[in-house]
Amino acid sequence: MIYSHEPVLLSESLTNLLVDKSGSYLDCTFGLGGHSKKILENLSSDGLLYSIDKDIEVKKYAHLIKDKRFNFQISTFSKISKIFEKKSMNGVLFDLGVSSLQLDKAERGFSFMRNGTLDMRFDNTSGMSAKDWINTAPEKEIADVLYYFGEERRSRQYAKKIISARKDSEIDSTKKLSDLFTKKGFQKKHPATNLFRGIRIKINNEFEELKKGLISSVEILKNKGILAVISFHSSEDRIVKNFFRRDYLDFVEGIRLKNLVKIKPSEEEKLCNPRSRSAILRTGEIEYVS
Ligand SMILES: C[S@@+](CC[C@H](N)C(=O)[O-])C[C@H]1O[C@@H](n2cnc3c(N)ncnc32)[C@H](O)[C@@H]1O
Repeated sequence: MIYSHEPVLLSESLTNLLVDKSGSYLDCTFGLGGHSKKILENLSSDGLLYSIDKDIEVKKYAHLIKDKRFNFQISTFSKISKIFEKKSMNGVLFDLGVSSLQLDKAERGFSFMRNGTLDMRFDNTSGMSAKDWINTAPEKEIADVLYYFGEERRSRQYAKKIISARKDSEIDSTKKLSDLFTKKGFQKKHPATNLFRGIRIKINNEFEELKKGLISSVEILKNKGILAVISFHSSEDRIVKNFFRRDYLDFVEGIRLKNLVKIKPSEEEKLCNPRSRSAILRTGEIEYVS
């Protein structure tokens, strides 16, 4: 099956990111290549694009791009300052969250709309799956993950329900987990929405990875280089916003971020691509100060 992913805030991110069409760029979230392909289309013949993703499944999609200016490797946000040279990039892009490839494939376990193994790992070759975690984690840890990562107000109640259910039998599928929280007619949002997001963030250590990725990205950006980040929910955006606003010297000596831009999708984009509804693009320009 061929999966496709509708890239969010595509023209807005490119307009702000591509300051020098002959420059070098890094797309930290290749996914199905929506942003990467468009960056390549807009770069001149001497521009360069490096892309990474931690999901080994996306490799086959990256290999479909036959372009001498393009370079892909499997890696993670936290490693970019080790892979790429300091002050080598004109722009770095993060399009956070899950790709359609991950969401639409039931066996990856990201969606409560599709029954599959409870996995949820971006890199499904290493680390703990959601199934292993949800069946072994203490009640307080589950409640904390749902509260802090999933922003679920009923986190304690949810954690209690999970602990009680797993006493009867292992929670080993997305359906078994989401069936614990069935949707009532009047509810707009499925009650498992925040639950699934919280678990996904925990399983992939997303917030720590994001913080390390942001710090590393400014190390590899040139003076006047652009950092662009698209986030999809408030706890994710809070990390990006605080990072952009804070005096930069806290993180990397001698570097500041200026000309901060915040963009939300147009009404038209929200209508055509519901996944974009909560998206926020933030960009900032690197300035080296002596
Ligand atoms: C929303 S998708 C990107 C979609 C892409 N921009 C497109 O248009 O097709 C996010 C991607 O980031 C990847 N990802 C998430 N966390 C990562 C990390 N810490 N390091 C590398 N890739 C990561 C996921 O595996 C996923 O493929």
